[in-house]
Amino acid sequence: ATERTLSIIKPDATKRNLTGKINAKFEDAGLRIVAQKRIQLTQDQAGQFYAVHKERPFFGELTEFMASGPVVVQVLEGEGAIAKNREVMGATNPADAAPGTIRAEFAESVGENSVHGSDAPETAKEEISFFFSGLELVG
Ligand code: CMP
Repeated sequence: ATERTLSIIKPDATKRNLTGKINAKFEDAGLRIVAQKRIQLTQDQAGQFYAVHKERPFFGELTEFMASGPVVVQVLEGEGAIAKNREVMGATNPADAAPGTIRAEFAESVGENSVHGSDAPETAKEEISFFFSGLELVG
């Protein structure tokens, strides 16, 4: 089925001008960018977005990093978009990411791993509405 998923190009990647190269990987995989904006999160907003990880030891590091520079938040649409995006991103830890994936090519560490993608239909819905209104999604 056609799905939508929330993607974030993280500060380590925007800092290195990798937005275009990362978007090319999404588009080459058949994912359409139906919404996109470059924003700067506060640490508090990053904490709200990653609330599910609040008890993890890396929560402070994660939210500080996500607020350390601009991010590009985007909605990707396509057949099986959630799983397809996760394939294109590669494993969370770049050391485990398959060759050719975004994290294998660009990520610097498990924390500074260039991209985020929703992991399931329910979280995709929540994460999309965290950043976008329906009016901003242009299929
Ligand atoms: P992401 O898909 O954005 O979801 C949660 C993020 O937490 C994950 O990518 C990683 O960037 C980050 N993360 C996971 N494990 C660690 C860790 N051990 N140290 C720092 N950050 C981590």
